[in-house]
Amino acid sequence: MSGRVVDYDSVADGFDRRYALHTYSGVRETLLDFVGSEKPAAILEVGCGTGHWLDAVIGLSPFVAGVEPSFGMLSRARDAVPGARLVRARAETLPWRDASLDRVFCVNALHHFADRERFFAEARRVLRPGGGLLTIGKDPHAERDEWWVYDYFPETLKIDRARFAAVRTLRGELSRAGFAWAESSEADRIEALMPAGEAFAGGMVDRKYTSQLTVLTDEEFKAGVERLRTAGAGRARDGGTLDLITDFRLYATVGWTT
Ligand SMILES: C[S@@+](CC[C@H](N)C(=O)[O-])C[C@H]1O[C@@H](n2cnc3c(N)ncnc32)[C@H](O)[C@@H]1O
Repeated sequence: MSGRVVDYDSVADGFDRRYALHTYSGVRETLLDFVGSEKPAAILEVGCGTGHWLDAVIGLSPFVAGVEPSFGMLSRARDAVPGARLVRARAETLPWRDASLDRVFCVNALHHFADRERFFAEARRVLRPGGGLLTIGKDPHAERDEWWVYDYFPETLKIDRARFAAVRTLRGELSRAGFAWAESSEADRIEALMPAGEAFAGGMVDRKYTSQLTVLTDEEFKAGVERLRTAGAGRARDGGTLDLITDFRLYATVGWTT
């Protein structure tokens, strides 16, 4: 389903840079709201990466766990969230018993899973009645986003449209997997304007910065860097600066069991 596959071991060291650049406050709020204030007995993040979001929920349940296939990401999560139970596994085969968890969530991870519908069936299987699944991610089908990555590396938008499903597709798949009801909402809007020179100096024009750039071929990546440099030189000749625009939304889709 994901087409081009990202080697997360090779990007693990620079992954958390995104959390220094943006607060993702809408994601945090949505996640805390989903977990709720009644201390659910067991929470699992699937595709937990370096553990950033496990750290946000660690005090909210007596059992907080993460599943992650990349050794590099998992070892960072072990250091970041020692209180979480961390397991090297994949979304498509969750190592938990039937009806043993109350909340399952993924942040910016679903588009990497090899078989999304199999994951939804697994999530449904491991959730207790009244349990919920939350997934937060982009919807490049909504055509509301502006992002320098899509502008200067045009292959990335086509790749994203293939690996991300529209939120209404996700709701249909949740319903087929046996969730009683599902709903979607806008969780966050990531906005920034950065001079291209700063983006280069800050390591953002880098294959490791975001998976959209990681999955490009060397030729596609080099061609995009060349486009950026040419546009930057054109602005400089006119006495200006090339600004890179980031303005995209992250959507939450939640399914509940009965
Ligand atoms: C963009 S990162 C997000 C990490 C974390 N959720 C966050 O938001 O900081 C996507 C993660 O999904 C993981 N992943 C990829 N394929 C997976 C699969 N089949 N099952 C579970 N996780 C997977 C990757 O290894 C990576 O750590």
